[in-house]
Amino acid sequence: MVIHKTKSYRDMSKKAANIIAAQVILNPASVLGLATGSTPVGTYGLLAEYCENGDVDFSNVKTVNLDEYYGLDENNEQSYRYYMNKNLFRKINIDISNTHVPNGKAENIDDECRRYEQLISSLGGIDLQLLGIGHNGHIGFNEPDKVFPLKTHCVDLGESTINANSRFFKSIDEVPKKAITMGIGTIMKAKRIILLAGGEDKREILKKALFGPITPSVPASILQLHNNLTVITSIDF
Ligand code: F6R
Repeated sequence: MVIHKTKSYRDMSKKAANIIAAQVILNPASVLGLATGSTPVGTYGLLAEYCENGDVDFSNVKTVNLDEYYGLDENNEQSYRYYMNKNLFRKINIDISNTHVPNGKAENIDDECRRYEQLISSLGGIDLQLLGIGHNGHIGFNEPDKVFPLKTHCVDLGESTINANSRFFKSIDEVPKKAITMGIGTIMKAKRIILLAGGEDKREILKKALFGPITPSVPASILQLHNNLTVITSIDF
């Protein structure tokens, strides 16, 4: 594990954007695993700038997102597809048909989970996976549990996640209670992982995840076992 402590959120975003840019420059047909949430917004903004300046070419890149709320379609402003289109895909020269997010409106959620897992395999797996961390230690929507779920699956969102994510909705009742997420196994198969954490409110959970026991009650703790993990954090811990 390599840990980069950065001076600020801006610095954290820049380091992450630089690593992703380097990945795409070295392998223009990279498969990028992407996250949503507040943390990577700055990283995506910088990648958009690099693309606009002609420094990075995304035309052959493919992306797979970690997760999506179940029940929201892509036109819903709270859906993760909407977020990705707005914060990154519409700002870079990627072919939108090469961008993949689980379908939150799929009729059969289990079929959708299987389809998504197969899709990732058919792309040859993920070259670089970007992650944030939830206050309860979740990665993707893999909530604290008794086991580490391996594959893409449907989850019932925990109370702390629903509360944390309610900031994006008009009321807490509008937050979907289910989501589709890559499994821990899907994430751990990525060749390289970048974990971003900013904000003092993440200090305790980040410490537990990186230095505490490896346990499904702190899903991110499994990352200690990944052989190419880079943590970029503006938290002084
Ligand atoms: C989002 C995701 C989540 C977030 C986590 C942190 O696709 O998979 O695990 O990374 O909830 O969210 P923020 O960055 O909003 O604190």
